Amino acid sequence: MTGTERNEYQPKKDAPIGVFDSGVGGLTVVREIIRQIPNEKIVYFGDTARVPYGSKSQETVTRFSEQIVRFLKTFQVKTIVVACNTASAYALDTLEKDSHIPMIGVVKPGARMAAEVTKNGRIGVIATEATIGSQIYANYIQALNKNVAIYGKACPLFVPLVEEGLLEDPVTDEIAGRYLSELIDIDIDTLILGCTHYPLIRSTLGRVMGKGVTLVNPAYETARELKSLLTEQNLLHEEPPGLGSNRYQFYVSDKAEKFVRFANSIIKYGILSAKTVNIEEY
Ligand code: DGL
Repeated sequence: MTGTERNEYQPKKDAPIGVFDSGVGGLTVVREIIRQIPNEKIVYFGDTARVPYGSKSQETVTRFSEQIVRFLKTFQVKTIVVACNTASAYALDTLEKDSHIPMIGVVKPGARMAAEVTKNGRIGVIATEATIGSQIYANYIQALNKNVAIYGKACPLFVPLVEEGLLEDPVTDEIAGRYLSELIDIDIDTLILGCTHYPLIRSTLGRVMGKGVTLVNPAYETARELKSLLTEQNLLHEEPPGLGSNRYQFYVSDKAEKFVRFANSIIKYGILSAKTVNIEEY
């Protein structure tokens, strides 16, 4: 960060919150932000041209994330939420080092809650291959409590199942049964839904895991921590934004219409449009 950059950051309460993800999944985080802090404006970027991030290298995900942060900064956002678990795992440290804007990822809030709720000290994490390979959830949780054992399981088929709309479907039940059987055998009592899409199949996951397992939704925990962060920094917007003040703006790198259809299926706000941006220019 340069001195000039620091001087240019004058956070305002009525500035929007920037939120980004590799595609549509981060809308589960937007949904929680709208529920918990409804007076905030949001600028969302979904990298629909370059999704998935979960099978890409750390270098690539970091480069993509840096471009998106540069794009979001053009809106003078007051804070940035890295809504993607993979980007939080791979890029958040680098992004924070290079930026003066407060940032929050989805991994730490989810890890904190899991460490708090486990009773038998056996926590499962399901996520993309990248997030599981990075061991980030395990590292955070063990920094909080060394006596907890963490079992990670990559579940790559869940993302396409959710994007196909198969939220309640025998195919999803079957795949969930196969992925989760080893976590059931290990007797975990807490399961972190460590990927943006998984809260959308929460009821299937809950049914397969059984009543004794608490499901932790990092999207919900992130919105809670965001609210605390904004409150601490005196940046929480108390009044609803005025009429005509672009309350929610959505940008994508490809296929805006498809994005809008998906967004409307999970956020009951009535999203009319999304704009396409050439993110490689940033
Ligand atoms: N948003 C990603 C995550 O939470 C899932 C989709 C992807 O692989 O890009 O890790």
